[in-house]
Amino acid sequence: MVQETSIKVKIREPKTKNEFDQYYNLRWRILRQHWNQPKGNEKDEKEKESIHLLVFDKDKIIGVGRGHFNTKTEAQIRYMAVEERFQGKGVGTKILETLERKLIKKGARTIILNARENAMKFYKKHNYKIIGKGHTLFGVIKHFKMRKEI
Ligand SMILES: CC(C)(COP(=O)(O)OP(=O)(O)OC[C@H]1O[C@@H](n2cnc3c(N)ncnc32)[C@H](O)[C@@H]1OP(=O)(O)O)[C@@H](O)C(=O)NCCC(=O)NCCS
Repeated sequence: MVQETSIKVKIREPKTKNEFDQYYNLRWRILRQHWNQPKGNEKDEKEKESIHLLVFDKDKIIGVGRGHFNTKTEAQIRYMAVEERFQGKGVGTKILETLERKLIKKGARTIILNARENAMKFYKKHNYKIIGKGHTLFGVIKHFKMRKEI
């Protein structure tokens, strides 16, 4: 069952170039800017083949997330980011649950991710289990490899 957010929001895939620009910009601001990373660093080689999701509060984009496949049955979630003042209101949950549903529909049996230490509680709550230590990004952000079997 999809959990309700405490605010009324819409979720869908980006359609226009302008929406994609805003999507990458939010990703960069939340996940890269603080660590002085240049624009462009928020993207990787999987963008074209990925599922992208945007959350809107009225017409403002306040949350993003991405899913892609590593194999036919193993999917990966990356770049989950919610605008700071909207964090803790269920927006991330909505993105995660919608991505999971879409990935499962396309054949995912396992979903993996590399969680930042600060976000581990969020993923644990959604039944992801720690399977090992991950990389340390920009020399400071510890990651943990997590997995959920469907
Ligand atoms: C992690 C993130 C995507 C979660 O989205 P969100 O909208 O804040 O999450 P939700 O409101 O759906 O939270 C659901 C649960 O996760 C927990 N949670 C969310 N963010 C948390 C945080 N930063 N620290 C600890 N727990 C957190 C809450 O306990 C909440 O449980 P509760 O409802 O019982 O209190 C968002 O906080 C974010 O963008 N954080 C900064 C960027 C980041 O770390 N991204 C993840 C990279 S792996």
